Amino acid sequence: MQNYRKITDSLLYIGASDRRLALFENIYPIPRGVSYNSYLLMDEKTVLLDTADAAVSEQFFQNLAAGLQGRSLDYVVVNHMEPDHCALLEDLLLRHPAAMVVTNAKAAAMIGQFFNLDLQGRLLTVKEGDTLCTGRHTLTFVMAPMVHWPEAMVTYDITDKTLFSADAFGTFGALNGNIFADEVNFDRDWLDDARRYFINIVGKYGVQVQALLKKAATIEIGTICPLHGPIWRQDLDYFIGKYDTWSQYLPEQKGVVVIYASIYGHTAAAAEKMAALLADRGVKNIALYDASHTHPSQLVSECFRFSHAVFAASTYNSGIFTPMETLLLDLKAHNWQNRTVALIDNGTWAAQSGKHMRALLEQMKDITVVSDTLSLKSAMKESQTSAMEALCDSLVDDLHVQPMKVSDNINKEAAFKLDYGLYVLTAREGTKDNGCVINVCQQVTDTPQKIIVTVNKGNYTHDMIMRTGRFNVSVLTEHAPFKIFERFGFQSGRDTEKFANCEFNVRTTNGIRYIPKYTNACISGLVLSTVDLGTHTLFIAQITESILINNEPSLTYAYYREHIKPKPAVAGTDASPRWVCEVCGYVYEGAELPDDFICPWCKHGKADFIKQ
Ligand code: FEO
Repeated sequence: MQNYRKITDSLLYIGASDRRLALFENIYPIPRGVSYNSYLLMDEKTVLLDTADAAVSEQFFQNLAAGLQGRSLDYVVVNHMEPDHCALLEDLLLRHPAAMVVTNAKAAAMIGQFFNLDLQGRLLTVKEGDTLCTGRHTLTFVMAPMVHWPEAMVTYDITDKTLFSADAFGTFGALNGNIFADEVNFDRDWLDDARRYFINIVGKYGVQVQALLKKAATIEIGTICPLHGPIWRQDLDYFIGKYDTWSQYLPEQKGVVVIYASIYGHTAAAAEKMAALLADRGVKNIALYDASHTHPSQLVSECFRFSHAVFAASTYNSGIFTPMETLLLDLKAHNWQNRTVALIDNGTWAAQSGKHMRALLEQMKDITVVSDTLSLKSAMKESQTSAMEALCDSLVDDLHVQPMKVSDNINKEAAFKLDYGLYVLTAREGTKDNGCVINVCQQVTDTPQKIIVTVNKGNYTHDMIMRTGRFNVSVLTEHAPFKIFERFGFQSGRDTEKFANCEFNVRTTNGIRYIPKYTNACISGLVLSTVDLGTHTLFIAQITESILINNEPSLTYAYYREHIKPKPAVAGTDASPRWVCEVCGYVYEGAELPDDFICPWCKHGKADFIKQ
């Protein structure tokens, strides 16, 4: 059964995914599998760009045969000779005896090393800048040594501006039908695997990746077709930017990764304490790992992600407890650099691990170890708390964490001077339609068009969007009646059907309902990333569809408060005190409103209630 997908009318994705392999390169765990991408260009000449791993041989050859539709194969371009992409080369050349191999001299030599193939009369050797015209398309070849082997090259289709980037811009993870990065929530679901892939596979070769990025910057790229993971045809700068950061060994995020290697738990307890002290000092972005439990490839990737690290290790055989030693050796092998580190060691009779950790870190470039190593004897004592606090302060000073100072001079009315709109945010999960009212929605970029929305975590619509990554925003107008707010704002989708007896039933292409009446526009969003704001989540989304309904004025929050929201009824008396929500009008009967009270209608807190 063939299983290819079209990228363009003349370019097919004919790769396949392996979900059975436990260890990529027999070392890296891939619980989400891996894809081996291969591409077929159907022009006056037919061109295959790389084969695939032997594990997916049957699917690959079925896809190739179906893609060729009875035509013969004219060329196979070999961009990279690692067996996960070239294992099927010998079989391919036997099945397609007229096919010519197009590759560079270094790769041609490797073909001779891996296979007993006679390529006489079948080899077209190319070098930097050479071109191959296949009819409408012209391909050119760019050498990319050490990304990730010395023979690696990339192929650029000048006609369609497609870059066949070999291992560059790849990621771990099987493709699940969605072969394009814009068909998935990459930031949420793929970025960690993409980082782990890059750091572990080509992290050592940052200089060479930078050289390739500089070459790429000189050409116009419309589509990136890597050998692993999703294809990029939108938002290319986002992923190229990640590669730029990683390959310059720059931290991706300010924050601290705390990693411990602990035999009986005492070093672990100290690491936990250190993480808590960091949090006390306002550090928000902390990740804590047990090196005995988490695979080194994940730890190395996290060390590349964060700006700062704490390494805590027991002493073992007069050296570093092995899981931490493995990590530090791995970091050195991957050229980890340009970071700030704090050290904690432990030893019952002779703590030695700190000395050895420091010696390994000194062999890495631009690693700053703050302060002296905090040395424990078997277990941390209360009397060592101040020493740990001092170590923590050194790290925090380096992080430049600004302690938050909130003035007593806070007038909540001031925030009401900010202009807000009001919108119905809708989502669909399975057969469940739902929606809620929000007041923050803003376009933030134009090319491509992106918007942000914030949603209270108490709303069921919030949870649905977290799971589905899709939503619609219906922009309310000044003609919106209060019943719209009652329907979508003052009840929960967990226990009600908000669209019950709704007079309209219309959906956008994403299958989600929108509100065609009392609104002037509908915008569909595909979530790219999220930011946790505590009570709310901020969704950053790309606009995938937009409908202009009419030109009536959009509803502002101020207009809603003045003209639509019912005025609170009669004031209460001391005998029957009541608290009225300034936002939605909900009335709480009682002498005192609890401090942690949350309005059941609009989810605002006590600060938005006035006593009457
Ligand atoms: Fe995916 Fe370097 O091979």
